[in-house]
Amino acid sequence: MLGIIGGSGLTELANLDVARREVVRSAWGEASGPVSVGRIRNQDIAFLPRHGHGHTIPPHRVNYRANIDALRSVGVTWIVSVASVGGIGGAMAPGVLVVPDQIIDYTWGRESSYQNGTQEKVIHIDFTHPYDSGVRSAILTAAAAQGEPVIDGAVYATTQGPRLETAAEIIRLERDGADIVGMTGMPEAALARELEIPYAALCVVANWAAGKGNSAHAVNFDHIEAVLQQAMSRARHIIEQVCSA
Ligand code: HPA
Repeated sequence: MLGIIGGSGLTELANLDVARREVVRSAWGEASGPVSVGRIRNQDIAFLPRHGHGHTIPPHRVNYRANIDALRSVGVTWIVSVASVGGIGGAMAPGVLVVPDQIIDYTWGRESSYQNGTQEKVIHIDFTHPYDSGVRSAILTAAAAQGEPVIDGAVYATTQGPRLETAAEIIRLERDGADIVGMTGMPEAALARELEIPYAALCVVANWAAGKGNSAHAVNFDHIEAVLQQAMSRARHIIEQVCSA
């Protein structure tokens, strides 16, 4: 079963025929909400909005462990995560869709592992390539089938939030090699890897990152809403195509 984690601008999937909503009791606490289980086209789907159904949970308070575990427990075997990001690199303009292939983690203080010291043995997951190549290909193939241009490969810097970055922080991230910046990429990807669930992300660039492009002086939230709405509907088409593959 395919699991979809929706981000800002994707709190529901219109085409999802919801058969049931499962409130999962996880050893890791409460997930962001009930998991909607149903079908899109010929694919069984489990959908979970990362920030809660009313978009009330900020990125640093999301219970990533409970979310991934909830998806696993309803039978999810692979995950497509949708997230909005800021654009750093020149090609990453607002409205662009990106399938990142690398991550740099700047988050702190988040519960970032299922290993809490009670297991028999410490396991170090391999995370050289943080996203699953098969799931990335499924997204890229779906985008091509829909005629939706997407950028294949980017370094996703995950910041702590919920505030946006300073201009100097963005320059630093750029120097580090980051192309896009968001607040939810980690520990989500690492937790999926710990549970051996293939995982990849489809990112929607909502705005130029602080100090870049039309965010030279400030990030304008009025623009973000409009761009997100338009680009998320394209992301939704890609997701639906992934479901019919
Ligand atoms: N920075 C961090 N996270 C984001 C941004 C940003 O500019 N835009 C959307 N998510």
